[in-house]
Amino acid sequence: MLHYKVPIFHFTTVTSTNDIARELLAQEDIVVVYADEQTHGRGRHGKIWNSERRKNLYYSLGIRQNKMLTAHETASYQAVGGMAAIDALRKILPDKQFRVKYPNDIMVKMDDASIKKISGILVEHDYLGSIVQSTIIGIGINIEQTIFDSDLQNKATSLAILGCSAFVQDVFDIVHEKIINRLNDKNIMDVWRQELNIEGKLLTMRDGKETFTIQKVLDDGTLLADTGDNCIIISSGESYQYKLDFGDGNR
Ligand code: BTN
Repeated sequence: MLHYKVPIFHFTTVTSTNDIARELLAQEDIVVVYADEQTHGRGRHGKIWNSERRKNLYYSLGIRQNKMLTAHETASYQAVGGMAAIDALRKILPDKQFRVKYPNDIMVKMDDASIKKISGILVEHDYLGSIVQSTIIGIGINIEQTIFDSDLQNKATSLAILGCSAFVQDVFDIVHEKIINRLNDKNIMDVWRQELNIEGKLLTMRDGKETFTIQKVLDDGTLLADTGDNCIIISSGESYQYKLDFGDGNR
């Protein structure tokens, strides 16, 4: 077991905790940054991550790499972030059902059976040629926010909406504990693959024009999909949708 002694930095206001973690890697090998608010919080695909002051968790773990990583190693950080977030949420709310939606949205089943997003993970690798200089795992978890932008109001939720009043600091402590555990998990890609539970599922393009069957989550984190005529690789869940399997109980 690796024991990470991780310097932790807290800020009131930052642009994005991912940016500050990256900057601090000039002086640290590994670093954690969290903040009360982000002025330029970002999600995947260039989306804005709404980051109201003291309402939610804005957490980033940075690792100085300065080496080549295999595609499998690179993808494993995606798995670490997703699993740490879902581990934390399951610890906070053991009676709720959470699932990871490919690639890394954490979704929860609401009391009315609708499915909403409560957490997102943004993993960034900085390259110099083929050398990965740093890896940043950014995790956002909605805690006290109850009002979202109109386009998100029906899609997003928070611990407060789920009936849980949690302190940001306590959620930080749990996420931090879980991410350190998952960094030490040698089988993290298999754990994530199992958690995704997407193999064999039908994936439909958002415009509804094409449907594929997912054959496998590959070691580099992409999806091998069968179109009926041939196989394609899918690297982003953004243009596709599939039915999340909540089964009968929480896992
Ligand atoms: C997504 O779902 O699109 C990913 C959202 C990631 C948000 C977190 S909040 C902490 C870190 N800093 C950022 O600017 N983004 C990530």
